[in-house]
Amino acid sequence: MKDPRVQQKRNGSDPEIQSGFYVLKHKDKDVSMIQMDNFTGRLEYVLAVYLPEELPVGCSGDGSSLSRWWSLRAIPDSRKGLRQVLSRTGMETSQALLLHSYGLSLTDHYWLQPVDRELYWEDLNFFENDFPEELGNLLTDSEVNEEGDDRLLKASPSASVNGDMKKKWVIRDGERSLLKVNTNYYGQQAVNEVIAGRLHERLGWKNHVSYSLERIRIRGTDYPCSLSPLFTSETKEFVSAYQLLMDYKIPNESSLYASLVSRAATMGLEEEKISRQMEYTIMTDFILSNTDQHLNNMGFLREPEQHRFTDMAPVFDTGNSLFYDRDVIPHGENLLDIKVNSFSRRETEMLRYVKNIRLDLEMLADFPDEAESLLLQNTKMPEERAEEIAHTVREKIEYLRMFQNGKKIWEREKYW
Ligand SMILES: Nc1ncnc2c1ncn2[C@@H]1O[C@H](COP(=O)(O)OP(=O)(O)OP(=O)(O)O)[C@@H](O)[C@H]1O
Ligand SMILES: [Mg+2]
Repeated sequence: MKDPRVQQKRNGSDPEIQSGFYVLKHKDKDVSMIQMDNFTGRLEYVLAVYLPEELPVGCSGDGSSLSRWWSLRAIPDSRKGLRQVLSRTGMETSQALLLHSYGLSLTDHYWLQPVDRELYWEDLNFFENDFPEELGNLLTDSEVNEEGDDRLLKASPSASVNGDMKKKWVIRDGERSLLKVNTNYYGQQAVNEVIAGRLHERLGWKNHVSYSLERIRIRGTDYPCSLSPLFTSETKEFVSAYQLLMDYKIPNESSLYASLVSRAATMGLEEEKISRQMEYTIMTDFILSNTDQHLNNMGFLREPEQHRFTDMAPVFDTGNSLFYDRDVIPHGENLLDIKVNSFSRRETEMLRYVKNIRLDLEMLADFPDEAESLLLQNTKMPEERAEEIAHTVREKIEYLRMFQNGKKIWEREKYW
C-alpha cells in the first residue's frame, strides 16, 4: 500500500502538502525561505535568505545556487534501479523522494521544514534517531516484503546519498554505516574498497575509511558488499570538493587543482595538510588504477558552528579501480595510458601534481599477493583474472618507484 500522503499529493487534496513553502534549516537555524514543487521535488524559488553565513558551503549569499545544491543532494538519475524505486514508492523523481525525508542526510545538518509545521532537529536527525531500512532495501534490491510497504516512505537517509553504486544506510549495533553493492563485475568494486584499506594500513596513512566486507542476498544469489562506518557526525559535516567549488569561477591563470587547494585553505585548513592528502591520494590511486577520483569523491570535514574546515575527509570510494570493468587486464606500458576522471585526463599526468611526498614502497612487498587473495576469497572471479590484477599492482609499484627516482614516466619511454 502506498503512503496516503503520496495519494493526497497526487490528488492535490491536501492544502498543507500543496503549499510548497519550506524553511531551509541548518540544525534549528532558519537559513532561507524557499518554494518547492511538491510533485517534482524541485526547488523553484528562493524567497528570502535570512542567514547567508549559514547557507551550504559553495552557495553564494543570494541563494541562487540552492536549487542546484538541492538537486545534487538527491539520488542521481544515473543510479541503477532508480526508476523501479520511484515507481514502487509512487514518487515522481528522486528529488521528491528526498523532500519526503525532509531533505535530511547523514553527511550534513541541512533539512527542509514545511512552513506550517513545527519540527525540531533533535527529533528528526538521523545521527541520533533510528530509521527503517525498507527504502534502503528497495534501493539495493534486497528483499522487501509486502508488510514492509508502509515503511517504504518513512524518512530515510538512503534518499539523500549520491553516487552510482546501489547503496543504503544501515544501523548495526547502534553505529551507522553505508552499505554499497554491485551485482556485476563479480562484485569486485566492494572488494576493491577493502584492498584499498589494506594499502593505506600498510603505508601507515590513518585518514582513510576502513571498509569491511559483508555478503548480501539479492534475487537468490550472494554478493560481496562493502560497509563503511560513518565519518561525519552531529558535530562534523562533509563538504565535497565539488560543493566547495560550485559557485567559484576558476581564474584563467589557475588550475582546478590549485583552486581547490587555495579555496579549502580560505576555509581554515593549512595548505600543507590539503596537498599532503591530495598527493598521497594521487599516488595510491596510481597503484590501484583508481579511475574515478572526481570532485565528489574527495572533500573536507567542517565544524558547523564555526563554519570552518577542520580536516580533510578520509580517503574513500576507491572501488572503481583494479580494472573492475575491463575484460582484458592491461600490462606493461599500457598501464601508462589509463584514462581517469579527475584533475587530468590521464593517470600519469596526475603524478605531476605530486611535489612533496614519497611513499615508502618497501611496505608494499606483499601487497599485490594480499590483493589477489582478497579477490579470490571474496568473489567468484577466475584465478587468472585475480593473478593478472595483482600483476598490474606489482608493475604499478615499479613505475611509481621510477617516478619517485625522478623519471618522467608520463613520457612513456620503454622501461622494460
Ligand atoms: N562513510 C561515510 N560517511 C559519511 N558519508 C559518506 C560515507 N561514505 C560515503 N559517504 C557519502 O556518500 C556519497 C556516496 O558514496 P560513494 O562515493 O562511496 O558512492 P559511489 O556510488 O561509489 O560513488 P561514485 O558514483 O563516485 O562511484 C559520498 O560522496 C559521500 O557524500
Ligand atoms: Mg563516489
